[in-house]
Amino acid sequence: MPLLQENISLKPYNTFGIDVKSRYFSEIFTLEQLAELGRYPVFKEARLLVIGGGSNLLFTEDFEGLVLKISIPGITHTVTGENIMVTAGAGVVWNDLVNYSVTHGFAGMENLSLIPGTAGASPIQNIGAYGVELKDIFESCLAYEIATGEIRKFEHADCHFAYRDSIFKNELKGKYIITSVSFKLSSKADLNIQYGAIQAELIKRNITEPGIADISKIVSEIRVSKLPDPSTIGNAGSFFKNPVVSDEQYHTLKIDFPEMVSFSLGNGQFKLAAGWLIEYCGFKGRISGETGTWKNQALVLVNHGHATGKEVYSFSEQIIDTVHSTFGVNLEREVNIL
Ligand code: EPU
Repeated sequence: MPLLQENISLKPYNTFGIDVKSRYFSEIFTLEQLAELGRYPVFKEARLLVIGGGSNLLFTEDFEGLVLKISIPGITHTVTGENIMVTAGAGVVWNDLVNYSVTHGFAGMENLSLIPGTAGASPIQNIGAYGVELKDIFESCLAYEIATGEIRKFEHADCHFAYRDSIFKNELKGKYIITSVSFKLSSKADLNIQYGAIQAELIKRNITEPGIADISKIVSEIRVSKLPDPSTIGNAGSFFKNPVVSDEQYHTLKIDFPEMVSFSLGNGQFKLAAGWLIEYCGFKGRISGETGTWKNQALVLVNHGHATGKEVYSFSEQIIDTVHSTFGVNLEREVNIL
């Protein structure tokens, strides 16, 4: 396969399964290939889109630039007492990394089982699920600076992690390509089982002393039951973020909507369950042409087969407008729109 390809269909490279073309396309497996690609004029001149598993993207039109898929493989680990440092190439499939850690008995990633995407993309939006976020286990990452070709190390504090957010989505957007990520795990399990759905499953299964493999299995099964499998139904997970509102707005809403699901952030702010807001507006399981919301989780938009990105986008606008007129709350998209 040549390093640089032209006019490639992106359908296999985005989990929404949107059929658009990229003017240029490259998939790299090594740092040497990345350095070589860096010498092509198109690398500096064209609009660049770096992708991993393509699981957080919605293409609304052909991409008139260079899509660069990072497929750098490899997982290694070092042991210092009970501290384990696991390092993964940016192209490692996230769930393969979770399975590697769970199989070796390394604790910390089990709640993040079955999240789609790659290790390299995980810090960008600080992936999270079931009470754990990437920032809880992130040690550092290496990244290639697009302007200079130099490799820079980012420590935890450099990354400015927040809910589904980091410096790589803000000040440094489009400036670095993450090439590997290191995680701080432990051989001593300190399980996070506070999430209601996990608690309920432990009770149901009569597990009183769970291990990391139990948690990984439970989280995987909950995800399978709630979320559509992108290999059969195109989707990009949660399409919107859970909105954060002030104490005042929360209390006003709670009077009108006592059933509303929310979580206190402990700082006077409240995170509202966007899935609940959307379901309340009657959108859960709604089919709109080739798109719609998932029947078991209203926060997930799906492609029923031949949806265009524009169709999904305009359906998402309809949801945003309805949620806004019903609750006065602005839903923000979590998925990157291109
Ligand atoms: N809910 C509804 N209707 C729905 C969906 C949810 O009423 O259609 C309510 C339920 O009461 C439920 C609550 O919302 O108890 C929370 O739902 P869920 O546990 O499914 O979590 P979420 O807040 O909808 C977030 C993440 C997910 C992650 C889950 C589990 C965001 C945007 N999404 O969803 O992440 O898997 O928590 O921790 O924060 C993703 O980012 O792609 C993703 C799937």
